[in-house]
Amino acid sequence: MRIDVVTIFPEYLAALEVSLIGKARREGLLDIRIHDLREHTVDRHRTVDDTPYGGGAGMVMKPEPWALALEGIAAGAEQDVPAEAETEAPADAPGARPVLLVPTPSGPLFRQSVAAELAMADHLVVACGRYEGIDERLFEWAAELFDVRLVSLGDYVLNGGEVAALAMIEAIGRLVPGVVGNPESLVEESHSDGLLEYPVYTKPSSWRGRDVPEVLLSGDHGRIASWRREQQLVRTRSRRPDLLAEDKTASHLA
Ligand code: ADE
Repeated sequence: MRIDVVTIFPEYLAALEVSLIGKARREGLLDIRIHDLREHTVDRHRTVDDTPYGGGAGMVMKPEPWALALEGIAAGAEQDVPAEAETEAPADAPGARPVLLVPTPSGPLFRQSVAAELAMADHLVVACGRYEGIDERLFEWAAELFDVRLVSLGDYVLNGGEVAALAMIEAIGRLVPGVVGNPESLVEESHSDGLLEYPVYTKPSSWRGRDVPEVLLSGDHGRIASWRREQQLVRTRSRRPDLLAEDKTASHLA
């Protein structure tokens, strides 16, 4: 999978060089490229923002540097596509256009299901806005080249899209086949089945007067599986009842 990130703070994305995502890059599973938006400005001051029409506090990101950056990425990616792949996939086939992911607190929530969907894309471009956001016309324009997806990390406001981009790239990247060594660890984790994960324990079996639940030492895989399922429900009911309310058709509620 190819991921391009456009930002005015390229150094923020250095975290993508470490741990599992860094390893996946070195192994060629993830081709992540970071672009400095200011490289696409045309004035001496490398200006990326201006005052909002209609007044109000803060600054708005100008659309032109974004259009130049995104155009360059879209054109470059097209050149990278091998000729046979071009003939196989018609331009309007799902997944044929790159996805433009725009982290913003005014987008729909980024959830595990969104991560799973985006993990199937060949090419993601992440536009990290700052200040009060990007001029709205950019998104209308970008829809001609990209599948534009606005996404929010949660109901709070960050200073910009970079931290959200890091979180989303990690959540998406780890679902790309081969990135996580043992694919089974992706199955039994929080949100993979709409529930929170069960509690986990390791050695020693007794620690500071607290014992690991007896069932986990029993070796009885059937009992362990039902205990874990029960714990998932108990946890989800107490910590995130909204998740159960959302999915009334789910078999775990039957
Ligand atoms: N940018 C600023 N706040 C954000 C949020 N909550 N989610 C995604 N991007 C953001």
